[in-house]
Amino acid sequence: MKRIMEKVKEIIFGHVGICILLLCAGPFLFISHGIFREIEIEQAPFDSDEEDLIVVGVSQLGSESGWRTAHTLSIQDALTKDAGYFLIFNNARQRQENQIKAIRSFISQRVDYIVFAPVIESGWETVLQEAKDAGIPVIIIDRMVDVDDDSLYTTWIGTDARNEGQKAGRWLERYLRTEGRQSDEINIVVLQGTIGSTAEIGRTRGFEEIAKNHENWHILESATGDFTAIKGKEVMRGMLRRYPDIDVLVSQNDDMTMGAIEAMQEAGVSFGEHGKVKVISFDAIHDALEMVDAGMINVDIECNPVQGAYIDMIIRKLEKGEPIEKSYVVEENVFTKDNVSEFLDGRTY
Ligand code: AHR
Repeated sequence: MKRIMEKVKEIIFGHVGICILLLCAGPFLFISHGIFREIEIEQAPFDSDEEDLIVVGVSQLGSESGWRTAHTLSIQDALTKDAGYFLIFNNARQRQENQIKAIRSFISQRVDYIVFAPVIESGWETVLQEAKDAGIPVIIIDRMVDVDDDSLYTTWIGTDARNEGQKAGRWLERYLRTEGRQSDEINIVVLQGTIGSTAEIGRTRGFEEIAKNHENWHILESATGDFTAIKGKEVMRGMLRRYPDIDVLVSQNDDMTMGAIEAMQEAGVSFGEHGKVKVISFDAIHDALEMVDAGMINVDIECNPVQGAYIDMIIRKLEKGEPIEKSYVVEENVFTKDNVSEFLDGRTY
């Protein structure tokens, strides 16, 4: 493990550090003692106690959703100074070029570990090769990268997005059977997340794998709402105008679902348990689970954001030279009105 003071000297006195200060200071968020604040890079005071901290550069892809906020907090809660970490955090605002810039900055600072949640799957080979050449282990979280050479990263912690999509399809099969509607013509619209992201690719593929077994299921349109409420609402508004007879909305995250629900309310279209449009959502953040309980969302397929403890566990193992797995898939549930009340109280996000 490198010493923090050495890093500070490198950053302050080295030509690389000067470049970083000039080029990268603006967009960085530095997390210390559980508080987010905008700072110029590496201006926090150091004392001798901090010399032994493990320096982790985290590139978070954005802050587009309630899920993302919970994911960031989970990282922040795990990688604290008390736990032995010095965390450098960057929010890429949903832009791959910002993530690449952040990772290069982490390499220049010679952090001990790079942790990053890639916004999309493609386009990472070059920067990952740079991290590998610098000897910095890379821990990928949440979404995945699509690379031929898996030695470009150390491990991945995330969710099984394809399985989530299949769970959505299987729920619809069961629901229609229970309602005696399994032979009805069923019109479906899909609000997709960020195109090319693991969550979008997996959920789209998983749901389509189930849908193709049902000739009477018609996917009228799939369009991206980029995982945000505002775009979800806008795209759903257009779909409601184009398709007067929607039976099912598959919305690939809760934020888009909330936007789409607003669009349905404004258009006077009924939805949920007693309404025309059945609503399938993903993530299962607290606010959405309350909507499941209220019958506004029929089913919410969980995507578990609590990944910080895994990062901590992996780094500790690596520090001790212990073996780790190449991938860790976090546990996930499916919530309907039948089981949601058991989980509502204890849920912190
Ligand atoms: O990659 C996980 C997805 O990203 C979550 O479903 C979504 O809410 C987030 O923006």
